[in-house]
Amino acid sequence: MIERTLCIIKPDAVAAGNTGNIIAHIQKEGFRILGMKMVALSHKAAAKFYEVHKGRPFYDGLVDFMSSAPCVPIAIEKESAIAEWRRVIGATDPAEAADGTIRKLYAKNKGENAAHGSDSVENGLREIAFFFTERELADLA
Ligand code: RTP
Ligand code: MG
Repeated sequence: MIERTLCIIKPDAVAAGNTGNIIAHIQKEGFRILGMKMVALSHKAAAKFYEVHKGRPFYDGLVDFMSSAPCVPIAIEKESAIAEWRRVIGATDPAEAADGTIRKLYAKNKGENAAHGSDSVENGLREIAFFFTERELADLA
């Protein structure tokens, strides 16, 4: 099944100059880029995006981090994109991420971990719609 997922190049990776490196992973792995932009999330917008994690111990720090500096959401598409992109980014904690994964290569720590990936098809579509209107998503088919 062709699926869509949302990648976000997180503020730590943008600030460290790894935006281009992470886009290169997307392309090397054969994902189709449907939409891409740089955004400075407000605290309120970041809180809304991560609402599913509200109440978790890392939530406040995550919202502060994601609204601390610009990030780069990228809507991507591929066969089994949800699992495939999570394979490419690696485990949440870079100390546990496999060699060659984005988090192993570029993440600072478990919180500032370079890239986001959606965790289900349904959430992927919801997260893409959070950042992109239908008209902003390129139909390259
Ligand atoms: P993501 O949603 O960003 O793709 O990451 P994930 O599925 O691997 O991890 P998730 O459990 O959904 O957590 C979302 C993000 O919250 C931060 N976090 N920090 N310090 C901590 O223990 C901790 N745990 C999670 C990370 O930025 C994580 O990616
Ligand atoms: Mg997650």
